[in-house]
Amino acid sequence: MKSMDKIVSLCKRRGFLFQSSEIYGGVQGFWDYGPLGVELKRNLKEAWWQDMIRGHNDLVTPPGAPASFEMVGLDCTIIMHPQVWKCSGHYDLFHDHMVDCRESKKRYRFDQVRGRWCERGDQKIFVSTLAEVEQELDEVRRRAMKFFKLRAKNADELTISDESLTLDKLDDTDSVLAPDAKTLGTLTEPREFNLMFKTTLGALGGEDDTTFLRPETAQGIFVNFKNVLDSSRVKVPFGIGQIGKSFRNEITPRNFTFRSREFEQMEIEFFCPPDQSQAWYRYWRDRRMAWYTELGLSSDSLIMREHEPAELAHYSVGTADIEYAFPFLPPGEYGELEGIAHRGDFDLRSHMEGKLNPNSPEGEPMQVELNEHGKPKYRGSGKDLSYRDEATNEKFIPHVVEPSAGADRGVLAFLCEAYTEDEAPDDKGQMQTRTVMKLHPRLAPIKAAIFPLVKKDGMPEVAQEIYGELKQHMNVFYDDKGAVGRRYRRQDEAGTPFCITVDGESLSDKTVTIRDRDSLEQTRVKIDELSFALIERLG
Ligand code: GAP
Repeated sequence: MKSMDKIVSLCKRRGFLFQSSEIYGGVQGFWDYGPLGVELKRNLKEAWWQDMIRGHNDLVTPPGAPASFEMVGLDCTIIMHPQVWKCSGHYDLFHDHMVDCRESKKRYRFDQVRGRWCERGDQKIFVSTLAEVEQELDEVRRRAMKFFKLRAKNADELTISDESLTLDKLDDTDSVLAPDAKTLGTLTEPREFNLMFKTTLGALGGEDDTTFLRPETAQGIFVNFKNVLDSSRVKVPFGIGQIGKSFRNEITPRNFTFRSREFEQMEIEFFCPPDQSQAWYRYWRDRRMAWYTELGLSSDSLIMREHEPAELAHYSVGTADIEYAFPFLPPGEYGELEGIAHRGDFDLRSHMEGKLNPNSPEGEPMQVELNEHGKPKYRGSGKDLSYRDEATNEKFIPHVVEPSAGADRGVLAFLCEAYTEDEAPDDKGQMQTRTVMKLHPRLAPIKAAIFPLVKKDGMPEVAQEIYGELKQHMNVFYDDKGAVGRRYRRQDEAGTPFCITVDGESLSDKTVTIRDRDSLEQTRVKIDELSFALIERLG
């Protein structure tokens, strides 16, 4: 059975993920990748970079678009000019809404996608309006009273007021309520909370020196649009990709790495002529969905959720989220892995002219937002970020399609998908439950493990020679400790697709066995042909 507890425990036990600063009690929303995790995450980012940027398949393009297009990369800074965040809209609009329960101190965050207030920590309370939060609390109170009346040593000690249920005198409170909740009751008014982490430039630290850790990598791409055009001779349509850290001071970091405060994004801004933008939007939506299934996410657990027209900004013809059925969600619920957004010319125009008003009347060109004195609220760069098509001499501000993926959420989805329990024989031939991480070979942290069957008769020497040779081509692991069955199990948990064993026969006929993690089949191959055989199997 796949459960989040088992996956989290394997991640810690085998060194995929650790809580940041764990020896000091940890810090919420921050995670460190261990020796296996860092390889897995690098492999995911490299697969993205290879498939989307360096080796992108430019043969299939939308009707009406050129038969090929270019993709280039960038690596921008985390701290940028403060004006970037004012013109992008993040300074004014990048808010979450929260309410607190006064008595239990529980915090609820408004989940924009589901349109619900969600409680931190406890998955079971999913509610949609403040009134429903109250109703939910009433229900908890009612159930708690019933429960405690049955169990309390002295039922007279139970008290309930209009506002709260006091549980201080009761035993066994934790079985009904979160361990930290002794009372439940009224909620504060909803408050806005900007998600950007503030920081200060230089030593003096005045208001003008305040800037932010980037909450997305995308803005680095927009502000470098002209630099890339001028320096690399790309032609619209083309895309710029970037992988890097982003930071959000999330109100309710939770569900392992799913909602972290420091995380990595893999973002593409694809610039195209306005009349091609719908076709490119569909192109990227389908291409990104296919990428996840090619790397092993089951199509049964993935959905493409098109945003409702009411959810879209009026400059956008579409936004879709690729969502995955993470095991920590109730059945039928999905969590976002990636958003693919049609952004029109909103970003480039805002950095040219100043922050545009996203509430400009529909059907009219968007206006720069004005302050109370009728002046532009935030000035743009004033630089011309339009594009002149050499063939037609037409000048336009390109439209943008943005596939924006989270590297950490990707890793989490692939870990959840890979976790499998099946039956396999142990060293004595007895069938045992085995835990195996069925990661795609491209993503697997270790590609092959090399074992001498026993630590004598020259087997370790042959195995070490093979290890030295393979190491030049891929990440491999050498292990000669313990029974071979146990060594296989450790590699199954690490997701290693192949184990190579040097046995008695190897010494006479110069062959080894390759054991396949998923089928458990063992094949003999010549040592001379091993690298080739493995590279072929890894695909
Ligand atoms: N530039 C667009 C943008 O940033 P987003 O939907 O806010 O869009 C894109 O973020 C992706 O980044 C999400 O689909 C998710 O995979 C990842 N992401 C966002 N917030 C995250 C968080 N707090 N923790 C982990 N990943 C996050």
